Amino acid sequence: MQENFRKDVLEGLSNKPQKKLSSKYFYDATGDELFVKIMALPEYYLTRAEMDIFQDKTSELIAAMQLEKEEKYDIIELGAGDGTKTIHLLRELQLRKFSFEYYPVDISLNALEGLENMLLKELPELKVKPMHMEYFQSLSRLKQDGNKKIILFLGSNIGNMPDDEATEFIYQLGANMYPGDKLILGVDLTKPKELILPAYNDAQGITAAFNLNLLHRINRELDGNFDVKEFEHYPVYDENEGIAKSYLRSKRSQEVNVSGHTFFFTEGELIHTEVSRKYNDSIIKKILSKTDITWVEKVTDSNNLFADYILLRH
Ligand code: AVI
Repeated sequence: MQENFRKDVLEGLSNKPQKKLSSKYFYDATGDELFVKIMALPEYYLTRAEMDIFQDKTSELIAAMQLEKEEKYDIIELGAGDGTKTIHLLRELQLRKFSFEYYPVDISLNALEGLENMLLKELPELKVKPMHMEYFQSLSRLKQDGNKKIILFLGSNIGNMPDDEATEFIYQLGANMYPGDKLILGVDLTKPKELILPAYNDAQGITAAFNLNLLHRINRELDGNFDVKEFEHYPVYDENEGIAKSYLRSKRSQEVNVSGHTFFFTEGELIHTEVSRKYNDSIIKKILSKTDITWVEKVTDSNNLFADYILLRH
């Protein structure tokens, strides 16, 4: 892991014409804590909107999933986190006497343990089988067990992948599913800049700290000497493209060393750190067109900010 991190950072900072760092490295212990704070921010509507779908539109969601009482299901949640949204779906499925087991998958052991304890308390009858591993490892392990699969990939996590990567990711999900299996994909919808930009540039500066933490992490783990106060969070959203992008902007010309390598920054130079794609039906259809997955239904929150697409492996 550490060596991949080093390699990616050294390559990304050498990249021309645009320096870049991957947002997948945001999530060390500090990054995880900051992201929890982001989800509770007044400007960050995404988590509340998807919560509205799971909590208040559970029946609509279950109807759209078209489940059968005779089938046994594996509900596999990729990047389950604290499960606060999913619990509403699980509770309702239990009440309606569907037969299923819940497999939360996460690379954070801490998150999985917390989730298991919470579910044990709240839904003691539920069969929970935490999987502390990579997403595709969990899917290939469960592939042959004979149960129908419902894969949950929520929170617009897919949006942090460029479209070609998202297509490949969904294609690979499909390769680990059988016809009739389903994917529930939670995505943030395109909307005016006035709503999106503040979600990535909150008044308290938590998102800025989240982005800048990447430089602290490089200093800590890769023997870097970024003078973090000489960089600033710089988010943009282009309504035509539908992608929120975050950058780190160098406030002055400066030189930085990382693992014995020197990098030069001009005043105002940007490091690209994150994409957060926003979706609509045609973008979803375009991405799915190159996969074995088709669109069945979508459920949106009451304010039409966010959607959970119910997708089928054909
Ligand atoms: C995890 N992911 C869906 C978040 C997003 O909205 O793209 C990460 C994030 N970045 C800045 N704020 C939140």
